[in-house]
Amino acid sequence: MFRTMTCGELRLANVGQQPTLAGWVQRTRKMGGMTFVDIRDRYGITQLVFNQEVNSELFEKANRLGREYVIQVTGHVAERSNKNANIETGEIEILVNELNILNESITPPFTIEDNTDGGDDIRMKYRYLDLRRNAVRANMELRHRMAFETRRYLDQMNFMEVETPVLIGSTPEGARDFVVPSRMNPGQFYALPQSPQLFKQLLMVSGFDRYFQIVKCFRDEDLRADRQPEFTQIDCEMSFVDQEDVLQIFEGMVKHLFKYVKDIDFNDTFPRMTWADAMKYYGSDKPDIRFEMKFVELKEEVSGRDFVVFDSVPYVGGICAKGCAGYTRKQVDELTEFVKRPQIGAKGLVYIRCEADGSYKSSVDKFYNSDDLKAIATKCNAEAGDLILIMAGEVRKTQKALCELRLEMGERLGLRDKNVFAPLWVIDFPLFEYDEETDRYYAMHHPFTSPLPEDVHLLKTDRGAVRSNAYDMVVNGVELGGGSIRIHDSELQNLMFELLGFTPEKAEAQFGFLMSAFKYGAPPHGGLAFGLDRFVSLFAGLDSIRDCIAFPKNNSGRDVMMDAPSVIDPAQLEELYIQRDEQRLTNL
Ligand code: AMO
Repeated sequence: MFRTMTCGELRLANVGQQPTLAGWVQRTRKMGGMTFVDIRDRYGITQLVFNQEVNSELFEKANRLGREYVIQVTGHVAERSNKNANIETGEIEILVNELNILNESITPPFTIEDNTDGGDDIRMKYRYLDLRRNAVRANMELRHRMAFETRRYLDQMNFMEVETPVLIGSTPEGARDFVVPSRMNPGQFYALPQSPQLFKQLLMVSGFDRYFQIVKCFRDEDLRADRQPEFTQIDCEMSFVDQEDVLQIFEGMVKHLFKYVKDIDFNDTFPRMTWADAMKYYGSDKPDIRFEMKFVELKEEVSGRDFVVFDSVPYVGGICAKGCAGYTRKQVDELTEFVKRPQIGAKGLVYIRCEADGSYKSSVDKFYNSDDLKAIATKCNAEAGDLILIMAGEVRKTQKALCELRLEMGERLGLRDKNVFAPLWVIDFPLFEYDEETDRYYAMHHPFTSPLPEDVHLLKTDRGAVRSNAYDMVVNGVELGGGSIRIHDSELQNLMFELLGFTPEKAEAQFGFLMSAFKYGAPPHGGLAFGLDRFVSLFAGLDSIRDCIAFPKNNSGRDVMMDAPSVIDPAQLEELYIQRDEQRLTNL
């Protein structure tokens, strides 16, 4: 046996025993005739002692150890005189009598410590070393635990894990496909799945009843802190269900994970909010409801006072920041600059201070008298000491900007505590989304989502008003998952394709197999998928999902460790009948 114990398990009760440990050298400290070495493995750190007087040869050998050497030691467990309360093995040390150097290490490019000196890029390049750090490894352990508990819950609920292929045709989830050329089918390409959507629906036609899969998905889209080009879904589908069944089963799954992974009990049913209300009160389809600060529509109160900025726009909305009347001019200017940033794009910000003496001070005093301001304050439920922040413009754009401002104020007021979790379901999404640029309607979720039965009659007359049988699980402003009850009727599905601008030929070419399957008795079905990476990073309190992925891509979609993607051999290209457009490549 290489080792009899791990580096994390020895305690006072083990004093006198003679274990063998194996691990990495965390650090060495020389103090006169004594050398102390910390040995580390996945389970912890143990202090080793080498005493010159007891064994000078061994002492010399210990002095030659460098950081990250891999060693094996045997010795006696002894009680430490100066105990270290910061580590679990801090009450003992090992008086070593055998040291075996299993492997040497060159000096690592950054320190393998909780507070490392390594920047992002270097840690990505040497990710296998970064993964030796406690914090990073803890994220991976959490990920494992969550995947395990997910499987445990779903198995109890009779879900069956089925693998689906990775080399497939296109699945429309709204992003670009990653494609793979086929050598055996010259000039033709596979697409990597944006999700297993079509397969899971086919498995319902096959009668599998309850499917799930923890599965890699691939989307060529612009990357953000919560997006990776390849990410993992907990993908699920069920037959003979309506929306209520799906929400209950997966609310159960979310509660199970909170309970068994975070030790947090949610006894109440998660709140449900329609998409329309989410937009109206929070300006977002993934509202952070850890705090209130809901939008208040003020168009009526502010109109007709000759203030063109408010009179000329369809929407005026405000939020009430509790206790912020004391904000200085500089602080308010900062907020104005914040909303004017190009990412947010607002033109300006109006404030009303509700002073302690009951008076009001605002940036638009010229247009509004104190009764006007009082009426606004009353509508906003503002009290003395509060600050009202108001924005105006086009409806959606202004709501979006106000949403950013609300989140910023929530942050400043400490209302977005990472240890507080506020889950909700957002329901009744619009079925279609209109895109001005292309003058087309797109499926807001995907083309297989069914309309709400009561809105089906609007499909041909008022597409924009049709609501879908779709739902998202949102926690703390993060979209953790989403899904829908599907269309299982080929006629309705064909109508959907038509409304989305697919010609019958194109629909047949892309989804013919699904349409044929639906002719063989497709059960009513529905499901959803959670983003596992987002789920783990929410539980771990991380700012980016990268930190809970063992080998993530950087912001340009590169694997900096492998240096991928990379140029391939001309012979390989030739075999695939592919030619590089050198002209365009040089002009890049
Ligand atoms: P959707 O596209 O909403 O639905 O994806 C489901 C969940 O996957 C996560 N997610 C991502 N995570 C990291 N990086 C990305 N690039 C990324 N894109 C999505 C999100 C999201 O909520 N087939 C449907 C599900 C269904 O209808 O059953 C689907 O894929 O957490």
